[in-house]
Amino acid sequence: MAELQKDPMTRGDFLGFGVLGTIVGALLTIPPAAFILGPVIDVNVRGESDVPDEWFRVGPISEVPAKEPKVFVVDFPVNQVYSEEQVIEEGVETERETVPNAVWTSWKEEADENGEAVHRIPEFVESGAQSPLTQEQIKEVERNLNVLSSSCAHLGCPVRWIVKEDGGEFLCPCHGGIYNINGDYVGGPPPRGMYRFTFEVREDANIYIKHEFDIGGEKGPQQPYVI
Ligand code: FES
Repeated sequence: MAELQKDPMTRGDFLGFGVLGTIVGALLTIPPAAFILGPVIDVNVRGESDVPDEWFRVGPISEVPAKEPKVFVVDFPVNQVYSEEQVIEEGVETERETVPNAVWTSWKEEADENGEAVHRIPEFVESGAQSPLTQEQIKEVERNLNVLSSSCAHLGCPVRWIVKEDGGEFLCPCHGGIYNINGDYVGGPPPRGMYRFTFEVREDANIYIKHEFDIGGEKGPQQPYVI
């Protein structure tokens, strides 16, 4: 009777090859995955941004109208692989893009005792105060300014200011999100009000922002859909 041929690979060998294959596969997959997901991890896990941690000039407070918002465009430099512009940063050659960003500014609005809207533009701004501003003037301006991202808090579409008979509102053209002049949520799908930039006003009577937002909202921390 013919002798049964012994299988050259035992069950143990088979399982061993499987484990080895898994390890090799993981080792080959992790580096490219980390490279591709790096920017996402930086922003969403580490809270970092590809935009350098600097202050950017928005514009003069004298250009913010008394009763309606004004949009300024701020160019954010973004470190981006495969960009054409090359800069040397801390001795390292970095590829960089510039992304224009719309920034909405306005004087805060509140209702007076008769329910009428009043805008909190400081008197010295209305009467054309010149720089340098005093520290008290700077604090007063900072207390009364809205500096908002134009990216809708729903899915990031740029909002527009719509003038109406009784004032106006920010309207998102994508799904109808509505906010008031202070950036507060009024209606539609957004889960919160508009994102507010970290900003400061300087003696030169200009507004400066950082690429930072108040990410807390009614539904907890959220990253805005902006660079
Ligand atoms: S992106 Fe603005 S409402 Fe959806």
